[in-house]
Amino acid sequence: MKAKNVLSLAAQNALPSGIRRMFELAKQYPDAINLTLGEPGFSTPAHIIDAGIKGLKDGKTKYTPNAGIKELRDAIAYKLKKENGIKADPDKNLIVTAGATQALMLAMVTLVNPGDEVIIQGPNWPDYRGQIDMVNAKTVYAKVDDKNEFKMTADVIEPLITDKTKLIIINSPSNPTGGVLEWEDLLKIAELVKKYKIFIISDEPYEKLVYDGFKQKSLAAIPGIEDYVLTINSFSKTFAMTGFRVGYICANERIIENLIKLHENMIASVPEPMQLAAAEAIYNGEKDVQKMVEYYDKNRKLIVDGLNRINGFKCVNPKGAFYVFPNISGFGMSSREAAEYILEKTHVVTSPGDAFGPDGEGYIRICYASKYEDIKEALKRMENAFGTKY
Ligand SMILES: Cc1ncc(COP(=O)(O)O)c(C=O)c1O
Repeated sequence: MKAKNVLSLAAQNALPSGIRRMFELAKQYPDAINLTLGEPGFSTPAHIIDAGIKGLKDGKTKYTPNAGIKELRDAIAYKLKKENGIKADPDKNLIVTAGATQALMLAMVTLVNPGDEVIIQGPNWPDYRGQIDMVNAKTVYAKVDDKNEFKMTADVIEPLITDKTKLIIINSPSNPTGGVLEWEDLLKIAELVKKYKIFIISDEPYEKLVYDGFKQKSLAAIPGIEDYVLTINSFSKTFAMTGFRVGYICANERIIENLIKLHENMIASVPEPMQLAAAEAIYNGEKDVQKMVEYYDKNRKLIVDGLNRINGFKCVNPKGAFYVFPNISGFGMSSREAAEYILEKTHVVTSPGDAFGPDGEGYIRICYASKYEDIKEALKRMENAFGTKY
Protein backbone atom coordinates (compact mmCIF):
# COMPACT_ATOMS: atom_id res chain seq x y z
CA MET A 1 0.00 0.00 0.00
CA LYS A 2 1.22 3.49 -0.85
CA ALA A 3 2.45 5.54 2.12
CA LYS A 4 -0.08 8.17 3.14
CA ASN A 5 2.26 10.39 5.12
CA VAL A 6 3.25 12.53 2.13
CA LEU A 7 2.90 16.25 2.81
CA SER A 8 0.93 18.55 0.50
CA LEU A 9 2.52 19.99 -2.62
CA ALA A 10 2.13 23.44 -1.05
CA ALA A 11 4.28 22.34 1.89
CA GLN A 12 6.79 20.56 -0.28
CA ASN A 13 7.15 23.48 -2.69
CA ALA A 14 7.34 26.24 -0.06
CA LEU A 15 10.58 28.15 -0.49
CA PRO A 16 12.90 28.56 2.50
CA SER A 17 13.30 32.18 3.55
CA GLY A 18 16.47 33.84 2.28
CA ILE A 19 16.26 36.25 5.23
CA ARG A 20 16.07 33.46 7.83
CA ARG A 21 19.32 32.08 6.41
CA MET A 22 21.08 35.38 7.09
CA PHE A 23 19.73 35.28 10.64
CA GLU A 24 21.28 31.89 11.17
CA LEU A 25 24.65 32.99 9.75
CA ALA A 26 24.61 36.15 11.90
CA LYS A 27 24.34 34.14 15.11
CA GLN A 28 28.10 33.63 15.13
CA TYR A 29 28.71 37.42 15.54
CA PRO A 30 27.75 38.79 18.97
CA ASP A 31 28.19 42.39 17.74
CA ALA A 32 25.98 41.87 14.66
CA ILE A 33 23.73 44.78 13.60
CA ASN A 34 20.57 43.32 12.16
CA LEU A 35 18.96 45.40 9.42
CA THR A 36 16.82 42.65 7.92
CA LEU A 37 13.49 42.62 9.75
CA GLY A 38 10.59 44.62 8.30
CA GLU A 39 9.49 45.70 11.75
CA PRO A 40 9.09 49.17 13.28
CA GLY A 41 11.84 49.92 15.81
CA PHE A 42 9.28 51.60 18.11
CA SER A 43 7.13 50.11 20.85
CA THR A 44 3.39 50.28 20.31
CA PRO A 45 2.09 53.64 21.68
CA ALA A 46 0.90 53.23 25.29
CA HIS A 47 -2.67 54.46 24.71
CA ILE A 48 -3.15 51.78 22.03
CA ILE A 49 -1.86 49.08 24.39
CA ASP A 50 -4.17 50.41 27.11
CA ALA A 51 -7.20 50.12 24.82
CA GLY A 52 -6.33 46.45 24.27
CA ILE A 53 -5.87 45.82 28.01
CA LYS A 54 -9.17 47.53 28.74
CA GLY A 55 -10.86 45.22 26.24
CA LEU A 56 -9.47 42.17 28.03
CA LYS A 57 -10.47 43.51 31.45
CA ASP A 58 -13.95 44.32 30.17
CA GLY A 59 -14.36 40.66 29.28
CA LYS A 60 -14.09 41.06 25.50
CA THR A 61 -12.73 37.57 25.26
CA LYS A 62 -15.21 35.87 22.93
CA TYR A 63 -15.62 35.43 19.18
CA THR A 64 -16.65 38.57 17.35
CA PRO A 65 -18.74 38.77 14.16
CA ASN A 66 -16.72 37.36 11.25
CA ALA A 67 -16.52 40.80 9.64
CA GLY A 68 -15.11 42.34 12.84
CA ILE A 69 -16.67 44.51 15.56
CA LYS A 70 -18.84 47.40 14.48
CA GLU A 71 -16.69 49.94 16.41
CA LEU A 72 -13.65 49.07 14.30
CA ARG A 73 -15.54 48.87 11.00
CA ASP A 74 -17.00 52.31 11.73
CA ALA A 75 -13.51 53.63 12.49
CA ILE A 76 -12.07 52.16 9.28
CA ALA A 77 -14.93 53.58 7.19
CA TYR A 78 -14.31 57.00 8.77
CA LYS A 79 -10.58 56.74 8.02
CA LEU A 80 -11.07 55.58 4.42
CA LYS A 81 -13.44 58.46 3.68
CA LYS A 82 -11.30 61.11 5.36
CA GLU A 83 -7.86 60.02 4.23
CA ASN A 84 -8.32 57.94 1.10
CA GLY A 85 -11.43 59.28 -0.58
CA ILE A 86 -12.98 55.80 -0.45
CA LYS A 87 -16.66 55.42 0.41
CA ALA A 88 -17.17 52.29 2.49
CA ASP A 89 -20.37 51.15 4.18
CA PRO A 90 -19.16 49.57 7.45
CA ASP A 91 -21.85 46.87 7.15
CA LYS A 92 -21.25 45.97 3.53
CA ASN A 93 -17.77 46.85 2.36
CA LEU A 94 -15.39 45.90 5.17
CA ILE A 95 -13.90 42.85 6.84
CA VAL A 96 -11.34 42.88 9.66
CA THR A 97 -8.50 40.37 9.21
CA ALA A 98 -5.45 39.07 11.05
CA GLY A 99 -3.09 41.59 9.52
CA ALA A 100 -2.58 42.19 5.82
CA THR A 101 -1.02 38.73 5.56
CA GLN A 102 -4.29 36.94 6.26
CA ALA A 103 -6.19 39.57 4.28
CA LEU A 104 -4.11 38.69 1.23
CA MET A 105 -4.47 34.95 1.74
CA LEU A 106 -8.21 35.31 2.23
CA ALA A 107 -8.48 37.39 -0.93
CA MET A 108 -6.39 34.85 -2.80
CA VAL A 109 -8.61 31.88 -1.88
CA THR A 110 -11.73 33.95 -2.63
CA LEU A 111 -10.65 35.18 -6.06
CA VAL A 112 -8.14 32.76 -7.55
CA ASN A 113 -8.49 29.21 -8.90
CA PRO A 114 -5.72 26.67 -9.57
CA GLY A 115 -4.02 27.47 -12.88
CA ASP A 116 -4.96 31.17 -12.82
CA GLU A 117 -2.22 33.75 -13.23
CA VAL A 118 -1.50 36.45 -10.67
CA ILE A 119 0.68 39.43 -11.60
CA ILE A 120 2.87 40.85 -8.86
CA GLN A 121 5.85 43.15 -8.86
CA GLY A 122 9.31 41.59 -9.07
CA PRO A 123 11.20 42.07 -6.74
CA ASN A 124 8.35 41.24 -4.39
CA TRP A 125 7.41 40.70 -0.77
CA PRO A 126 8.03 36.91 -0.61
CA ASP A 127 4.65 36.05 0.95
CA TYR A 128 2.79 37.03 -2.26
CA ARG A 129 4.59 34.26 -4.09
CA GLY A 130 4.10 31.81 -1.21
CA GLN A 131 0.36 32.50 -1.12
CA ILE A 132 -0.06 32.23 -4.88
CA ASP A 133 1.66 28.82 -4.67
CA MET A 134 -0.74 27.80 -1.89
CA VAL A 135 -3.74 28.26 -4.20
CA ASN A 136 -1.90 26.45 -7.02
CA ALA A 137 -1.89 29.52 -9.23
CA LYS A 138 0.98 30.88 -11.29
CA THR A 139 3.07 33.92 -10.32
CA VAL A 140 3.81 36.32 -13.15
CA TYR A 141 6.44 38.93 -12.28
CA ALA A 142 6.19 42.51 -13.49
CA LYS A 143 9.88 43.32 -13.40
CA VAL A 144 10.91 46.72 -12.09
CA ASP A 145 14.36 48.12 -11.42
CA ASP A 146 16.26 51.06 -10.02
CA LYS A 147 16.44 52.83 -13.39
CA ASN A 148 12.71 53.53 -13.11
CA GLU A 149 12.73 53.97 -9.30
CA PHE A 150 11.09 50.52 -9.05
CA LYS A 151 7.72 51.64 -10.42
CA MET A 152 5.25 48.91 -11.45
CA THR A 153 3.41 51.05 -13.99
CA ALA A 154 0.61 50.10 -16.40
CA ASP A 155 3.00 49.72 -19.33
CA VAL A 156 5.00 47.12 -17.35
CA ILE A 157 1.80 45.25 -16.42
CA GLU A 158 -0.17 45.28 -19.69
CA PRO A 159 2.08 43.00 -21.80
CA LEU A 160 1.81 40.34 -19.07
CA ILE A 161 -2.00 40.14 -19.14
CA THR A 162 -3.34 36.92 -20.70
CA ASP A 163 -6.67 35.05 -20.74
CA LYS A 164 -5.54 33.37 -17.55
CA THR A 165 -4.79 36.55 -15.60
CA LYS A 166 -7.14 36.65 -12.64
CA LEU A 167 -5.56 39.11 -10.29
CA ILE A 168 -2.99 41.90 -10.14
CA ILE A 169 -1.43 42.99 -6.86
CA ILE A 170 0.03 46.46 -6.51
CA ASN A 171 1.92 47.57 -3.43
CA SER A 172 2.78 51.22 -2.98
CA PRO A 173 4.90 52.12 -1.07
CA SER A 174 6.62 48.86 -1.83
CA ASN A 175 8.37 46.23 0.17
CA PRO A 176 11.25 45.60 -0.63
CA THR A 177 12.07 48.63 -2.78
CA GLY A 178 10.43 51.65 -1.11
CA GLY A 179 9.19 52.63 -4.59
CA VAL A 180 5.84 54.41 -4.90
CA LEU A 181 3.10 54.84 -7.48
CA GLU A 182 1.92 58.39 -8.14
CA TRP A 183 -1.69 59.37 -8.84
CA GLU A 184 -1.03 59.41 -12.62
CA ASP A 185 0.37 55.86 -12.39
CA LEU A 186 -2.74 54.72 -10.52
CA LEU A 187 -5.05 56.32 -13.09
CA LYS A 188 -3.36 54.35 -15.87
CA ILE A 189 -3.58 51.12 -13.86
CA ALA A 190 -7.29 51.79 -13.30
CA GLU A 191 -7.70 52.08 -17.09
CA LEU A 192 -6.17 48.60 -17.45
CA VAL A 193 -8.58 47.22 -14.87
CA LYS A 194 -11.51 48.70 -16.78
CA LYS A 195 -10.22 47.42 -20.11
CA TYR A 196 -9.44 43.85 -19.04
CA LYS A 197 -11.94 43.50 -16.17
CA ILE A 198 -9.48 41.84 -13.80
CA PHE A 199 -9.44 41.86 -10.01
CA ILE A 200 -6.80 44.04 -8.45
CA ILE A 201 -5.54 44.22 -4.88
CA SER A 202 -3.96 47.41 -3.66
CA ASP A 203 -1.86 46.36 -0.66
CA GLU A 204 -1.27 49.56 1.32
CA PRO A 205 0.33 48.78 4.71
CA TYR A 206 3.07 51.41 4.21
CA GLU A 207 0.64 54.08 3.02
CA LYS A 208 1.54 56.59 5.76
CA LEU A 209 5.28 55.95 5.77
CA VAL A 210 6.06 58.48 3.04
CA TYR A 211 8.64 61.24 2.67
CA ASP A 212 9.68 64.36 0.75
CA GLY A 213 6.09 65.63 0.77
CA PHE A 214 4.80 62.61 -1.17
CA LYS A 215 1.23 61.58 -0.31
CA GLN A 216 0.13 58.06 -1.17
CA LYS A 217 -3.24 57.92 -2.91
CA SER A 218 -5.50 54.87 -3.10
CA LEU A 219 -6.44 53.09 -6.31
CA ALA A 220 -9.98 52.54 -4.99
CA ALA A 221 -10.57 56.30 -4.94
CA ILE A 222 -10.79 56.14 -8.74
CA PRO A 223 -14.40 55.72 -9.88
CA GLY A 224 -15.50 52.93 -12.23
CA ILE A 225 -13.43 50.03 -10.82
CA GLU A 226 -15.55 49.27 -7.73
CA ASP A 227 -16.32 45.73 -8.91
CA TYR A 228 -12.67 44.79 -9.24
CA VAL A 229 -10.61 46.54 -6.58
CA LEU A 230 -9.81 45.32 -3.07
CA THR A 231 -7.99 47.70 -0.75
CA ILE A 232 -5.93 45.91 1.87
CA ASN A 233 -4.36 47.68 4.81
CA SER A 234 -2.94 46.93 8.22
CA PHE A 235 -2.10 48.52 11.55
CA SER A 236 1.25 46.71 11.77
CA LYS A 237 3.70 49.10 10.20
CA THR A 238 1.89 52.43 10.61
CA PHE A 239 1.27 52.18 14.34
CA ALA A 240 4.07 49.74 15.32
CA MET A 241 1.46 47.04 15.97
CA THR A 242 2.92 44.02 14.14
CA GLY A 243 2.08 41.66 17.01
CA PHE A 244 -1.55 42.79 17.28
CA ARG A 245 -2.37 41.14 13.96
CA VAL A 246 -5.06 43.47 12.72
CA GLY A 247 -5.72 44.46 9.14
CA TYR A 248 -8.71 44.81 6.83
CA ILE A 249 -10.11 44.55 3.36
CA CYS A 250 -12.40 47.06 1.71
CA ALA A 251 -14.26 45.84 -1.38
CA ASN A 252 -17.69 45.66 -2.96
CA GLU A 253 -20.53 43.86 -1.19
CA ARG A 254 -20.41 40.67 -3.29
CA ILE A 255 -16.70 40.18 -2.65
CA ILE A 256 -17.01 40.97 1.08
CA GLU A 257 -19.89 38.47 1.51
CA ASN A 258 -17.69 35.77 0.05
CA LEU A 259 -14.61 36.82 1.99
CA ILE A 260 -16.68 36.54 5.19
CA LYS A 261 -17.68 32.93 4.38
CA LEU A 262 -14.09 31.84 3.89
CA HIS A 263 -12.83 33.93 6.81
CA GLU A 264 -15.07 31.81 9.05
CA ASN A 265 -13.26 28.71 7.79
CA MET A 266 -9.85 30.28 8.20
CA ILE A 267 -9.75 32.14 11.53
CA ALA A 268 -13.42 32.98 12.30
CA SER A 269 -12.54 36.36 13.83
CA VAL A 270 -9.74 38.58 15.12
CA PRO A 271 -9.41 38.88 18.94
CA GLU A 272 -11.68 41.69 20.13
CA PRO A 273 -9.16 43.50 22.40
CA MET A 274 -6.85 43.83 19.39
CA GLN A 275 -9.70 45.23 17.31
CA LEU A 276 -10.45 47.80 20.05
CA ALA A 277 -6.78 48.78 20.10
CA ALA A 278 -6.90 49.25 16.32
CA ALA A 279 -9.92 51.57 16.62
CA GLU A 280 -8.00 53.59 19.21
CA ALA A 281 -5.07 53.81 16.77
CA ILE A 282 -7.32 55.25 14.06
CA TYR A 283 -8.95 57.88 16.26
CA ASN A 284 -5.97 58.91 18.41
CA GLY A 285 -2.76 57.56 16.85
CA GLU A 286 -1.97 60.18 14.24
CA LYS A 287 0.59 62.09 16.36
CA ASP A 288 2.47 58.86 17.06
CA VAL A 289 2.64 58.11 13.35
CA GLN A 290 4.01 61.57 12.60
CA LYS A 291 6.76 61.13 15.19
CA MET A 292 7.75 57.74 13.83
CA VAL A 293 7.76 58.96 10.24
CA GLU A 294 10.03 61.89 11.19
CA TYR A 295 12.44 59.43 12.79
CA TYR A 296 12.38 57.05 9.81
CA ASP A 297 12.96 60.00 7.50
CA LYS A 298 16.20 60.90 9.32
CA ASN A 299 17.30 57.29 9.07
CA ARG A 300 16.44 57.25 5.39
CA LYS A 301 18.58 60.29 4.63
CA LEU A 302 21.44 58.86 6.66
CA ILE A 303 21.41 55.48 4.92
CA VAL A 304 20.89 56.71 1.35
CA ASP A 305 23.70 59.29 1.58
CA GLY A 306 25.92 56.86 3.46
CA LEU A 307 25.48 53.97 1.02
CA ASN A 308 25.96 56.18 -2.03
CA ARG A 309 29.37 57.21 -0.64
CA ILE A 310 30.56 53.64 -0.11
CA ASN A 311 32.21 51.61 -2.88
CA GLY A 312 29.99 48.92 -4.37
CA PHE A 313 26.58 50.48 -3.58
CA LYS A 314 24.20 52.55 -5.71
CA CYS A 315 21.06 53.51 -3.86
CA VAL A 316 17.83 55.06 -5.10
CA ASN A 317 16.26 57.52 -2.65
CA PRO A 318 12.95 55.81 -1.81
CA LYS A 319 9.81 57.89 -1.23
CA GLY A 320 8.07 55.37 1.00
CA ALA A 321 8.12 52.39 3.43
CA PHE A 322 11.24 51.86 5.56
CA TYR A 323 13.48 49.96 3.18
CA VAL A 324 16.30 50.80 0.82
CA PHE A 325 17.12 48.43 -2.01
CA PRO A 326 20.62 49.37 -3.12
CA ASN A 327 22.10 47.99 -6.31
CA ILE A 328 25.18 45.98 -5.30
CA SER A 329 26.35 44.91 -8.76
CA GLY A 330 29.49 46.98 -7.97
CA PHE A 331 30.58 44.11 -5.72
CA GLY A 332 30.73 41.77 -8.74
CA MET A 333 28.92 39.06 -6.80
CA SER A 334 25.45 37.55 -6.60
CA SER A 335 23.15 39.18 -4.06
CA ARG A 336 23.50 36.24 -1.72
CA GLU A 337 27.29 36.30 -1.93
CA ALA A 338 27.33 40.05 -1.39
CA ALA A 339 25.06 39.84 1.69
CA GLU A 340 27.28 37.12 3.14
CA TYR A 341 30.44 39.07 2.29
CA ILE A 342 29.05 42.21 3.96
CA LEU A 343 28.12 40.15 7.01
CA GLU A 344 31.54 38.54 7.20
CA LYS A 345 33.46 41.82 6.81
CA THR A 346 31.26 44.14 8.87
CA HIS A 347 28.86 42.01 10.94
CA VAL A 348 25.99 43.97 9.40
CA VAL A 349 23.07 41.71 8.54
CA THR A 350 21.18 42.56 5.34
CA SER A 351 18.72 40.62 3.19
CA PRO A 352 19.96 39.34 -0.17
CA GLY A 353 17.84 40.59 -3.08
CA ASP A 354 17.10 37.09 -4.31
CA ALA A 355 15.06 36.53 -1.13
CA PHE A 356 12.53 38.79 -2.90
CA GLY A 357 12.23 36.70 -6.03
CA PRO A 358 14.39 36.35 -9.15
CA ASP A 359 14.13 40.07 -9.98
CA GLY A 360 15.80 40.95 -6.68
CA GLU A 361 19.12 39.64 -7.97
CA GLY A 362 21.74 42.42 -8.03
CA TYR A 363 20.36 44.16 -4.92
CA ILE A 364 20.19 43.81 -1.15
CA ARG A 365 17.43 45.05 1.14
CA ILE A 366 18.16 47.09 4.24
CA CYS A 367 15.41 48.00 6.69
CA TYR A 368 16.04 51.42 8.27
CA ALA A 369 13.28 51.24 10.89
CA SER A 370 15.86 50.47 13.57
CA LYS A 371 17.88 52.88 15.75
CA TYR A 372 19.65 55.84 14.12
CA GLU A 373 22.83 54.99 16.04
CA ASP A 374 22.79 51.41 14.75
CA ILE A 375 22.51 52.61 11.16
CA LYS A 376 25.33 55.10 11.74
CA GLU A 377 27.52 52.34 13.16
CA ALA A 378 26.62 49.96 10.29
CA LEU A 379 27.61 52.62 7.75
CA LYS A 380 30.87 53.31 9.58
CA ARG A 381 31.75 49.64 9.49
CA MET A 382 30.95 49.39 5.78
CA GLU A 383 32.94 52.53 4.99
CA ASN A 384 35.94 51.08 6.81
CA ALA A 385 35.60 47.72 5.07
CA PHE A 386 34.89 48.82 1.49
CA GLY A 387 36.20 52.41 1.29
CA THR A 388 34.46 55.47 -0.12
CA LYS A 389 34.01 56.79 -3.65
CA TYR A 390 35.01 60.33 -2.77
C1 LIG B 1 3.96 44.47 1.34
C2 LIG B 1 3.46 43.85 2.57
N1 LIG B 1 2.18 43.47 2.64
C3 LIG B 1 1.67 42.90 3.73
C4 LIG B 1 2.45 42.68 4.84
C5 LIG B 1 1.83 42.00 6.03
O1 LIG B 1 1.75 42.76 7.17
P1 LIG B 1 0.83 42.35 8.40
O2 LIG B 1 0.34 40.96 8.17
O3 LIG B 1 1.69 42.45 9.60
O4 LIG B 1 -0.28 43.32 8.38
C6 LIG B 1 3.80 43.03 4.84
C7 LIG B 1 4.68 42.74 5.98
O5 LIG B 1 5.88 42.78 5.91
C8 LIG B 1 4.30 43.65 3.68
O6 LIG B 1 5.59 44.03 3.61
